[in-house]
Amino acid sequence: MSNSLNQGIERRDVLKAGVIAGGVVAGGSALAGCAAAEEGAKEASATASIPLSTVAVGGGVVVADPPVVVTQPSSGDVKAFTAICPHAGCLVSDVADNVIICPCHGSKFSAEDGSVIAGPASSGLAGAAYKVDGDTVTFG
Ligand code: FES
Repeated sequence: MSNSLNQGIERRDVLKAGVIAGGVVAGGSALAGCAAAEEGAKEASATASIPLSTVAVGGGVVVADPPVVVTQPSSGDVKAFTAICPHAGCLVSDVADNVIICPCHGSKFSAEDGSVIAGPASSGLAGAAYKVDGDTVTFG
């Protein structure tokens, strides 16, 4: 599933939004999560957009800048959360089977509401503001 997410994202979109999908960092940096950890959790300060068609049902797209993970738990039901893990500030890396995964220590979060499914994180991912307009999801 991860590879199918990558195939749906055009290069210009990756460069524009610093998208990470399927655990592959493109146009951004995994260090973004580390920098955020040093600064503490902060809200997204920039806006970006992605095509809704790149957000698989049951999957999601992780954007590094601003750090947002966009999910689609069921067809047409779009959600967005901060992509900064509340445990130690890493950027989450992937969404599969409606589970958002943090690569650093294995925390798992619900793609439906951001709640913790498995620790060590003790709190969930906060919701992020977003708007769906046709095939475009804008957030940040
Ligand atoms: S930073 Fe995410 S599990 Fe530790």
